[in-house]
Amino acid sequence: MTGQAQATLLGIETSCDETAAAVVVRDRTGAGRIVSNIVRSQIEEHAPFGGVVPELAARAHVVHLDAIFARALAEAGLALAEIDAVAATAGPGLIGGVLVGLTTAKALAAATGKPLIGVNHLEGHALTARLTDGIAFPYLMLLVSGGHSQYVLVEGVGRYTRWGTTIDDALGEAFDKVAKLLGLAYPGGPEVEKLAAIGDPARFAFPRPLLREKRLDFSFSGLKTAVRLTAEKTAPLTDTDVADICASFQMAITDIIRARTGTALVRFAEELPDAPPQIVVAGGVAANRAIGLALRQAADEHGARLVVPPAALCTDNGAMIAWAGAERLALGLTDPLDIAARARWPLDDLGRTGQGAA
Ligand code: KG4
Ligand code: ZN
Repeated sequence: MTGQAQATLLGIETSCDETAAAVVVRDRTGAGRIVSNIVRSQIEEHAPFGGVVPELAARAHVVHLDAIFARALAEAGLALAEIDAVAATAGPGLIGGVLVGLTTAKALAAATGKPLIGVNHLEGHALTARLTDGIAFPYLMLLVSGGHSQYVLVEGVGRYTRWGTTIDDALGEAFDKVAKLLGLAYPGGPEVEKLAAIGDPARFAFPRPLLREKRLDFSFSGLKTAVRLTAEKTAPLTDTDVADICASFQMAITDIIRARTGTALVRFAEELPDAPPQIVVAGGVAANRAIGLALRQAADEHGARLVVPPAALCTDNGAMIAWAGAERLALGLTDPLDIAARARWPLDDLGRTGQGAA
């Protein structure tokens, strides 16, 4: 992409339990640079409830967002008037939180007269690897977070095709639920990974749902139920039992991810025979090293490039929203001030308004 002016964007993210704002520059060659990136996690507010409480999340965003975006500007050494456009998550997510961020962005855009870009949160995840690694279209994305588990073909800005999703729990949710039933702290993913490292992955033979199928969907609830039944049968659980359950659970997950990703890369080669195979990962679960290794094995086996952005950019943040906003702005895709916040907003829907990249 050539010929565009450099643009500096403020990005705001409030769709779940992170209050986040960042300043990102996209230069005229299309390369991105993070100038500031402030994230305030609400984990402590939600931990006593073992999950995100939507009303608490929305209130915390109201309390903290002003200071967070002011800090993002201050760390960038910029006044609001020096920003070229304001981007905010417009969905999907917890609607109270999305409204807080989007309304704030509208106010900033109205006050400065600068363009507003309402970003699909999933598009933020999908385009992050272009900010961090300058990866060219097309590529495959595996998004694995607390709310999503999906393979998406990314062919351009606004051009996304979902190839598979979970038919029940998201992967992060499965980690969190397993952790909860084992009495581990919230969020459960990191706890399960820690204990899995010292447990015996061969002790319990947990199911690998849909493993042999060609489709790219996930199902984790049967696996979670098997873990629960095993925990009940083995109770009272010793520390060793808990570690062995974590290790066996994580082994089932990595087997599923490796196989599914292999299937996805075969499909990529079939449908896009002229494109070099590439896969990027996004979402909080991407921080899991065993899963990262499974992805590496699948990518190596299929001769694909794997991009794993730094963990802080895989979890929710403002930089990915600012960057997605910058990519859209470069294509002239801005939004009116009355753009609606959306609790549900599948990525495929962007195809109607989005444009391909040159
Ligand atoms: O993307 P993210 O920060 O937030 C949203 O889902 O919006 O992802 C959080 C999820 C949680 O379910 C958490 O348990 C999971 O990512 N997670 C992990 C790890 N770190 C975070 N799951 C497995 N292993 C990890 N190391
Ligand atoms: Zn997310």
